[in-house]
Amino acid sequence: MGASDAGPAYRIEEMIPAGAIADRIAELAPQIEAHFAGTRQLVVVGLLRGSFVFIADLVRALDLVVEVDFLEASSYGNAMESSREVRILKDLSAEIAGRDVLVVEDIVDTGHTLHHVLGLLAARGPARLETIAMLDKPARREVDVRATWTGFEIADEFVVGYGIDYAQRDRNLPFIGRVVLGE
Ligand code: IMP
Ligand code: MG
Repeated sequence: MGASDAGPAYRIEEMIPAGAIADRIAELAPQIEAHFAGTRQLVVVGLLRGSFVFIADLVRALDLVVEVDFLEASSYGNAMESSREVRILKDLSAEIAGRDVLVVEDIVDTGHTLHHVLGLLAARGPARLETIAMLDKPARREVDVRATWTGFEIADEFVVGYGIDYAQRDRNLPFIGRVVLGE
């Protein structure tokens, strides 16, 4: 790619290898199966776009009847800062009243996105509503919200890969890496 379309200079340091992510999913899947044991059909809701890789791996690890749906909440452009204002850009296709729902998120950062989405979905009266996030940055929290299950807690660092982007790039990395600016 030419330098002119490369944006700011940065490099990526591997932080969580693909194998460690796979191992963690294999650990969490039985916990989710146990929690939702006996469900007729679990609605697994991926928050676009960052969860698309995680949800693909997660549903294949779950020995449950699942339905896959997606919801897109707005984020603050391409910047490294999360938005405090959350808008729904794409709503679910499924009706979730009386049903079991698992929300799949890439990262819980300030918590505003998850807090807003959970409030919206809870108001629709699901039977059970839980959340799994691949990453959690507790040091950044502004709203008191927690995922039911978390892949990894990380420090206040900007990360990419495994579906997560920096200015729409690097979602296709198989590992999770930290962005190091200016190099
Ligand atoms: P929150 O509303 O501040 O919790 O933001 C959550 C969303 O911000 C995540 O779903 C990501 O899309 C984005 N985000 C937060 N931290 C990072 C990061 O380190 N890299 C890329 N995106 C991030
Ligand atoms: Mg996101």
